[in-house]
Amino acid sequence: MVDSEQSYLRDVQYRFPDRLKARSILHNRYGRDDWFEWLSSNIPLLSSGVIADVGCGAGSFWTNAPQSVPSNLRLRLLDISEGMVDAARTSIGAMQRWHDVEVSVADAVALPLADASADTTIAIHMLYHLADPASGLKEMSRVTREGGAVAVVLNPAGTMAELSALARAPFGDEPDPRPEPLSSEQELALMRASSPALMSSGTRTNCA
Ligand SMILES: C[S@@+](CC[C@H](N)C(=O)[O-])C[C@H]1O[C@@H](n2cnc3c(N)ncnc32)[C@H](O)[C@@H]1O
Repeated sequence: MVDSEQSYLRDVQYRFPDRLKARSILHNRYGRDDWFEWLSSNIPLLSSGVIADVGCGAGSFWTNAPQSVPSNLRLRLLDISEGMVDAARTSIGAMQRWHDVEVSVADAVALPLADASADTTIAIHMLYHLADPASGLKEMSRVTREGGAVAVVLNPAGTMAELSALARAPFGDEPDPRPEPLSSEQELALMRASSPALMSSGTRTNCA
């Protein structure tokens, strides 16, 4: 990814939560309705643990987390977009459910967290935005303690193929110039190759 692509993500696509929210409406309407239950049951969220949420967006995981998720978690939320970070801070603050929350602007490849400071590090639908996903995985591994968990959530290859075909239809047989986003299958292979300590990978077809 060139700088202009990262600036596009930070300053246009994710400048404010609106575009992500619009996409989420589609997934909420047509996807499975137990997304947050599924996520929280597949990610280790131990009582009083430090959880780093990399690419937290507007904090939707925390504003929708089922009651079974312990509210004494220590949340470290990070995103490259100031608008997202502001939105996360406001919506999570308004809930009065989470009492130890730090929200910061940060790039996934240079997290402002000490080595081994998180029990669990999560990245939900964000790793495909990195020019070098392996560097992101390495950084998440660095901030996660030994025996902790790095949980990365991506879509399987071919997710929403019908929607992509519909978007391409007006262009006839022209090939889609956009690269396929990093899929959960590719990410799993990356994890295995880059660090055996990285353990958790979930897939679903709900959110892009
Ligand atoms: C599809 S959204 C997912 C947000 C959130 N995890 C969720 O599930 O609602 C991707 C998020 O990754 C953030 N992001 C993109 N590149 C990033 C980077 N290099 N470092 C940190 N965050 C990044 C974007 O600003 C955006 O908020």
